[in-house]
Amino acid sequence: MSSATSLKVLVVGSGGREHTLVAACLASPLVGEVIAAPGNGGIAAVCPCFPVSVDDVIGMTELARREGVNFVVVGPEVPLSLGLVDSLLEAGIPAFGPKADGARLEASKIFTKRLLLENKIPTALAAEFDRLDAALDYLGTAALPIVIKADGLAAGKGVVVATSAEEAEAAVRSMLENKLFGESGDRVLIEECLVGEETSIHLVVSGRDFVVLPTSQDHKRAGENDTGPNTGGMGAYSPAEVVDDALMRRIVSEIARPSVDAIAAAGIDFRGVLYIGIMITRDGPKVLEFNTRFGDPETQVLVPRLATDPVALMHAAALGTLSSVPLEVKPDYACCVVLAAAGYPGAYARGEVVELPPSVGPDEFLFHAGTRLDDSGRVVTAGGRVFGATALGSTLAEATRKAYGVCDRVKFASKFLRRDIGARQLRRDGQPS
Ligand SMILES: Nc1ncnc2c1ncn2[C@@H]1O[C@H](COP(=O)(O)OP(=O)(O)O)[C@@H](O)[C@H]1O
Ligand SMILES: [Mg+2]
Repeated sequence: MSSATSLKVLVVGSGGREHTLVAACLASPLVGEVIAAPGNGGIAAVCPCFPVSVDDVIGMTELARREGVNFVVVGPEVPLSLGLVDSLLEAGIPAFGPKADGARLEASKIFTKRLLLENKIPTALAAEFDRLDAALDYLGTAALPIVIKADGLAAGKGVVVATSAEEAEAAVRSMLENKLFGESGDRVLIEECLVGEETSIHLVVSGRDFVVLPTSQDHKRAGENDTGPNTGGMGAYSPAEVVDDALMRRIVSEIARPSVDAIAAAGIDFRGVLYIGIMITRDGPKVLEFNTRFGDPETQVLVPRLATDPVALMHAAALGTLSSVPLEVKPDYACCVVLAAAGYPGAYARGEVVELPPSVGPDEFLFHAGTRLDDSGRVVTAGGRVFGATALGSTLAEATRKAYGVCDRVKFASKFLRRDIGARQLRRDGQPS
């Protein structure tokens, strides 16, 4: 490659997803230098980190300019919805991630619901409300269970699947009356409850072009056997065999293709990840929601499985040349197990010193999430999800065994993990978990 393609990349964010993306940048022949903001303890060990908050659009743009960055990869949804990519593009700096107009597909569930219904893309039927009395009247006529959704970003806490009238009313009141989610709950969707198995797909989109990344399955609940409260995700594996080739063809033709076309037709030049949450119902796959960035922990199993350089993919998407990059995927399975701090997603300890293995094996990765370096350079815990231990293997059983092997070699006082990541697919395959 000529020096013209030597990139200095800024990765925005501080989670396991961003550590994975930083690692991919460091491994890419296209990349000369990597920096991150704000980063975490693991990212700081491999590249310079700058203390700029992800919601500081001006500060982040200034950092990119000052550091001579020529490509920015934005991890989380908040800076996207605040217009970080718009600001970077105005400064002449290419970035991977949608502008604010595209980020609305995640930041407003009402915006997305209208787009889906107008374009006849399969999704739950829904009504929108901004007045409490009208919402309560509607609930009086609705069948149970019923789903109540705050319109805006709510860090995964803005959806209630209500099984009783009381629960539905309480959810609506919490959003429209008590402002539990602030402005994010100024408007709500009340939607039909879909029944089926959930899955998701990640697309890398550039205008009307897109590629489908490998399938994956996350584990949202804190406890084993999918019990306990919802979290940001306690682990993931890839590929997810629930999505067989026939189902994938349906998802692409009935959901992915029409969604990408509808987004483009709405005047949005989307260049980033479209992560589509899907319910596989008796009537076929239906959209639950859009996210406009990589999932976490899904990124931690998707990116290591790519044989194509992930940076080449993201850079081409940003420049509008995505169709020139063929996607190649390794045959390996991947498993990621999240090491959390006990108590997460509720209150948990911080500042615990971590004992790390001196190294991990080939095709094993210890991605940092909620960690930081203390004044003496030790890694200490700093968040609810602390690490993602990821491994590749020629079978899911092997990948899982290796990932748990990494988990066992990381020590901190409140370490907490689920022991059943991938277990459901292993059982389906008839293998012992
Ligand atoms: N219409 C629906 N029918 C049944 N379950 C739903 C429906 N919409 C959402 N859910 C459930 O609620 C979860 C969260 O909803 P989602 O739309 O993905 O919002 P978010 O991820 O922003 O919280 C989904 O993963 C799914 O389990
Ligand atoms: Mg979701």
